[in-house]
Amino acid sequence: MSDQTHDQQGESRTFPPDPDFAASANGTADLFDAAEADHEGFWAEQARTYLTWSTPFTQNLDWSNPPFATWFADGELNACVNAVDRHVEAGRGDKVAIHFVGEPEGDSRDITYAELHEQVQRAANALADLGIGKGDTVAIYLPMIPEAAVAMLACARLGAPHSVVFGGFSADALHSRIEDAKAKVVITADGGYRRGKPSALKPAVDAALDHDETSVTDVLVVRRTGEDTAWNDRDTWWHEALERAAPTHEAQPVEAEHPLFILYTSGTTGKPKGIFHSTGGYLTQAAYTNAIVHDVHRDTDVYWCTADIGWVTGHSYIVYGPMTNGVTQVMYEGTPDTPDQGRWWQIVQDHRVTILYTAPTAVRTFMKWGAEIPARYDLSSLRLLGSVGEPINPEAWLWYRRTIGGDRTPVVDTWWQTETGAIMISPLPGVTTLEPGSAQRPIPGISAEILDDEGKPFTTPEQVGYLVLTKPWPSMLRGIWGDPERYKETYWSRFGPEYYFAGDGAKYDADGNIWLLGRVDDVMNVSGHRLSTAEIESALVSHPKVAEAAVVGASDETTGQAVCAFVILRQEAVAEADEPGEGEALVQELRNHVAKQIGPIAKPRQILVVAELPKTRSGKIMRRLLKDVAEGREVGDVTTLADSSVMDLIKKGMDAPASD
Ligand code: PRX
Repeated sequence: MSDQTHDQQGESRTFPPDPDFAASANGTADLFDAAEADHEGFWAEQARTYLTWSTPFTQNLDWSNPPFATWFADGELNACVNAVDRHVEAGRGDKVAIHFVGEPEGDSRDITYAELHEQVQRAANALADLGIGKGDTVAIYLPMIPEAAVAMLACARLGAPHSVVFGGFSADALHSRIEDAKAKVVITADGGYRRGKPSALKPAVDAALDHDETSVTDVLVVRRTGEDTAWNDRDTWWHEALERAAPTHEAQPVEAEHPLFILYTSGTTGKPKGIFHSTGGYLTQAAYTNAIVHDVHRDTDVYWCTADIGWVTGHSYIVYGPMTNGVTQVMYEGTPDTPDQGRWWQIVQDHRVTILYTAPTAVRTFMKWGAEIPARYDLSSLRLLGSVGEPINPEAWLWYRRTIGGDRTPVVDTWWQTETGAIMISPLPGVTTLEPGSAQRPIPGISAEILDDEGKPFTTPEQVGYLVLTKPWPSMLRGIWGDPERYKETYWSRFGPEYYFAGDGAKYDADGNIWLLGRVDDVMNVSGHRLSTAEIESALVSHPKVAEAAVVGASDETTGQAVCAFVILRQEAVAEADEPGEGEALVQELRNHVAKQIGPIAKPRQILVVAELPKTRSGKIMRRLLKDVAEGREVGDVTTLADSSVMDLIKKGMDAPASD
């Protein structure tokens, strides 16, 4: 990692804040002192500054029963009122909340806060008509269309926790998430537009509900593509339900600790974890970080976060943070290369976007496509760039700043997780001297350390350890839905109950900046999407021809990591796979099987059929060695293998064709 801070010319470059930017930045140096002086008081002040409470709180943090925290517990508020109603009440109803850009060219519309207000009220009434009330869960499976935000906010209005499932997940993945959360209603669409054509969504919902028992009574269907779709008794068109519903709805204040949403994320086992978040603490930190890190200025900025609503970034930095701050934002439905590779830059130019928040994988893709593409557009409106989801290598960071940011804008690399709810480690663009490739320091109010194997904190530069968070924070997960033991075990047992174990490796550099070095557990990060090796392995072994499978995340220039699978076939399938041409067909079959079980994002880049897997004498698969093979490296120490010749056999098979 030692050359991480050097760009292609071998220069080490840092970027002090621009004085003009600093002069009007929301995030200032004194926040660090204030948070240091009084951690809880600091957060209470943010909760009062950024939010409107229907019952003001008097309690701050309660950490008497770790790891179960409460924040602002005797206060009451409604997240939708904070994100929508109060802007309208303050006379800003005509302000654009969302510049929606559909993928088909010309398919755009602007939605003001007043329009959003009416939509969320009608949607809340429509959901209430279906029997949804406080504490009921609702699953949302939608493309990137404004209705996704409306659906989430309507749930929040009723105190009904939503569980958004990414539209790229399969029917099976959707089914298990619906049932785990016992959702009563699913909100979906006939489809959305992707890569220039309609892509159906509703059939996956139908398949997900095609089981003997389901908790779901009703499905609301947004008409987006107008394509024919099968219809069931439980289905209602969204637009018809909203038209029928009353246009006004009294929002229900909930206790600060009332769960706002559940979001499933991959862990180290095959079963995804339903991470759930509170209302008051979560919203406080989502709004605060959007203000101090993204530096949103309500009256002048046009903000664009390119994440999908199905991931936590879409929750915190499309819906809850920016809308609570009353900003104007862009929402784009489709892919960056439709109709051509300039689509994003066309959008920035058309809407005069000032703040862009995206993922390193996107930046690296644009680098590959070439600087001449963004150069055709006027990107001079941009004043801040952000990155999230995986480490951004210094070359990509520098390219982003130079090519997209006109060598002018700060770039903030923000580290956080589904579990943390909001940004935790990041530069403040008006304060921090930027170090390309590093997320740098915990933001004001957050405390982190790096521990060695024994759990001792260290500050020695370049020594690699484990990132932990040392103080509770308002937007921390409140648990794993229905599984408090797994919550304790996963996050609070590795280094004892005071340390939240993030699962990421990290180190300090000589200047005390934190460098995130990727996961230390069996979680992969593919294009910023979190995938579990165990989940893909169990998808593979559910195929009748597979006896055993091992999955590793191998480095990939564009996607960060790529899924590589090693499978042992069942006896009867071995002979068949040896037939000419059959091996490749089988690999395709297995890749498609994973896509069907989990979703296309989990499709292995490469599947290698092997006779044996490298195992220790106690039978544990040595993924480290498989990773060496998948990354084309010299295989590491094999002395603990039960049979050291296994690796030679696997390496020989490595010339098997990779498929897309
Ligand atoms: O490994 C870290 C990586 O993404 C993981 C969290 O994934 P998820 O819950 O899906 O949330 C992604 C969006 C917040 C982390 O454990 N990660 C996220 N941001 C960064 C990062 N790794 C390095 N640098 C980052 N800025």
